[in-house]
Formats: sequence, structure tokens, C-alpha cells
Amino acid sequence: MSNIMGKDKLRKFNAVHEFKNVVEPTTEEAMSDVPYPLKGNWSKELFGNDLPIILELGCGKGEYTLGLARKYKDFNFIGVDIKGARIWKGAKTALEEELNNVAFLRTKVDFIDKFFKKGEVAEIWLTFSDPQPRRPRKRLTSPMFIDRYRSILKPKGIINIKTDSDLLFGYTLDQVDEHNYPLLLKSWDVYGELIHQTTPDVVYKMGIRTYYESKWLAQNIKTKYAQFRIG
Ligand SMILES: C[S@@+](CC[C@H](N)C(=O)[O-])C[C@H]1O[C@@H](n2cnc3c(N)ncnc32)[C@H](O)[C@@H]1O
Repeated sequence: MSNIMGKDKLRKFNAVHEFKNVVEPTTEEAMSDVPYPLKGNWSKELFGNDLPIILELGCGKGEYTLGLARKYKDFNFIGVDIKGARIWKGAKTALEEELNNVAFLRTKVDFIDKFFKKGEVAEIWLTFSDPQPRRPRKRLTSPMFIDRYRSILKPKGIINIKTDSDLLFGYTLDQVDEHNYPLLLKSWDVYGELIHQTTPDVVYKMGIRTYYESKWLAQNIKTKYAQFRIG
């Protein structure tokens, strides 16, 4: 592993195993037909409450997981990413700030329906997901992924997508259109348009900047955002 991962990344990757707010299933567990022990039990077993769960998929350093958790104490937040060294940052911050409504799950989003049961998730955030220009099926808003989200979301559960990518945003809006998903919010220019004509709640949410978003904004690439239901 040290051949492909730098020293600092390796240190973080290893440290994350010790964090009590990080869950790292094995590939065997992810692929198994035996239900994962936390499936259906995340709030009770991990957070010690019965609050609804909000997921950030492809969370990287988990800025949305943390930013939303600081304000919305009536929800539990779980950031999901395959890269342990990125999760390390969010998990460490959550521990330092004693954010007890935050956890991270290190796995592939492809397996998300193995880890949550139907109705266990209230809302999903997709933050600056890879646009996958040559592999539309791999986009996190492709029908294959939407089917997975449907099998874990509550009825009328919400999907949020915030992205730099015209390709991914246009593709997502086409999916919304094609499948008649109720579209609740849409903006091709969050900071030029949406935040001037919306609620304080949405202004707060849009004020959370992720690592990748900051990179794209520095290059004058506009942030896009949409919120829709699939149930
Ligand atoms: C462009 S980065 C965005 C990270 C973060 N949300 C941000 O805005 O800074 C995409 C992230 O998605 C993760 N990712 C991509 N495909 C994934 C998959 N199938 N399962 C889990 N994580 C994935 C990558 O590891 C990476 O951290």
C-alpha cells in the first residue's frame, strides 16, 4: 500500500481505524447476503437515539456532514466515502468538536443499500461528485444509483446535488425530467442567483463550502444545486 499511497495519507488511513465515529465494513461484509449488523439500527446502536439520518455520499473530508450537523441537531449525519485518508479529516473534526450526531462510513456508494434499510434515510446529499464523463452508469444520479437510494430513503425522501459540473448537473436534470421526479429547487448559479431569492435555511446550507467547491470557485466555475424527491 505504501507504494501507492503517500506517507501522510497512509498515516491518516491507519489512524481512521481507531476513530470511534468511523465504521469500516470489510468488502466481504459489503458483498455478503447476511444483513450488516447496523442495517436498520444506525441511530439506536451508533448514536443512541431514534433521530432520522442524512447521508453525504462521496463526502471527501465531510464538510456537509459537519456543517449540517452543527446546525441541525435533530438529525444524525453520516458521511460516506471510500477514501479513508479523506474521511480522517471530517472524523477528527467531529471528535474535536464533540459532534455526537456525526459518523462516517468507509465504503463504496455502490453498496449503500447493503448498509441501510428501507426508510432509514431521510435525505441524501451528493457533493461535488465525480462527473464520470465516459461512464454515465457510474454517475451518482444514474438510474442504477437512484434505485439504490430509493431502497433506503423514506417515502418522499429528498436528494440534494451540489456540483461544479455542467455535465453532471444537466444529466441529473434530464433524469429528473425523464422520470417526473418532483423538483423542489434548481439553480445553475447558486451564489449569483439562488442565495438572493431563497430562505435563511437554504442560505445556510449553500454557505457550506467543500474542499472541491473552493477549488472550482477559485477558477470561476459556477456552483449548481438541485433538490428533488424520488418517492
Ligand atoms: C470530487 S471528490 C468530492 C469530495 C467532497 N464531497 C468535496 O466536495 O470536497 C469525490 C469524492 O467521492 C468519492 N467517491 C467517488 N466515487 C465513489 C464511490 N463509488 N463510493 C464512495 N466514494 C466515492 C471519492 O473518494 C472522493 O472523495
